[in-house]
Amino acid sequence: MAHQIGIVGGDGIGPEVIAQGLKVIDAAGVELNAVHYDLGGNRYARDGLVLTDEIVDEWRGLDAIYLGAVGTPDVPPGLIERGLLLKMRFDLDLYINLRPFSCGPDTANSSTVFGPDAEFDFVVIRENTEGAYAGEGGFLRKHTAHEIATQGSVNTHIGVQRCVHFAFELAMERRKHVTLVHKTNVLNFAGDLWERTFNTVAEEFPQVTTTYNHVDAACIYFVDDPFRYDVIVTDNLFGDILTDLGGAVSGGIGFAASANIHPGMVSMFEPVHGSAPDIAGSGKANPTAAILSGALMLDHLGEHQAAERIRAACSNPETLKGSTKEIGDMIAARL
Ligand code: IPM
Ligand code: MG
Repeated sequence: MAHQIGIVGGDGIGPEVIAQGLKVIDAAGVELNAVHYDLGGNRYARDGLVLTDEIVDEWRGLDAIYLGAVGTPDVPPGLIERGLLLKMRFDLDLYINLRPFSCGPDTANSSTVFGPDAEFDFVVIRENTEGAYAGEGGFLRKHTAHEIATQGSVNTHIGVQRCVHFAFELAMERRKHVTLVHKTNVLNFAGDLWERTFNTVAEEFPQVTTTYNHVDAACIYFVDDPFRYDVIVTDNLFGDILTDLGGAVSGGIGFAASANIHPGMVSMFEPVHGSAPDIAGSGKANPTAAILSGALMLDHLGEHQAAERIRAACSNPETLKGSTKEIGDMIAARL
């Protein structure tokens, strides 16, 4: 039976890379029943619509949402981010942001730091509904010399626990190691909750070994020794920053895929990169991140074999040079 998918191509290179992803999924033999939603900065500029509760309710009935990238230079910063992307993550309670980073001869990309023969393979599980992203805070005495702005970090026991639990479950299917990344030496309230919750969940998984890294040290290890990691679990803001670094050290953001997941419910899949308006229409965008995000979507849909075949087809960096469409065609042809 065809899977029910919402497509948000979005702005800039978004629709270009999603078109390649859809072509590759089709070539893998998976049938999608796709409904396109015209949303993003361009849509907002046209009629002021960002995202309505009605659309979100419609999405609850779907199996997945496949998103390219949203944002145009002329729209005020934060409007589309909060109004569309974060609204999706929050309203659909997509509490896991899963971002895999792997390098080596059998992947699409190679280590930026260690060269083509180096192999590493780790996954960042970023909490996706809380932390500094929650929107807690505000202004006092705005536009005066004594203005105060606060931006709290919201960390709930349930929110941290379900995220950490997911990370351990994932580690059980992998190399059974989880690293907690935080800043417990300074963020003594949030860090304490994360650490205690992490240690309690760890007791349920005696086969999994654990480590703790401060986030600043993790930045060094990402560049110096990414080989040490299997599964990393961290909060929303640290995860945002670390995953850009993860993309940068594993061959570039053009390969970085992500899944915004609520297990068992409609979930959203998008490349980590943005809409890159400067190269839109030039054919320069690398569709691999979107294609690999499509593979993560197939995993969510239970189409694991097709997902594996797509990941395999994305390997061999030598043959993946060309325009957006040429790269998409080559990957599709391998299926
Ligand atoms: C990401 C992006 C978003 C985030 C922005 C566009 C709101 O950077 O998905 O990593 O901060 O989560
Ligand atoms: Mg980011």
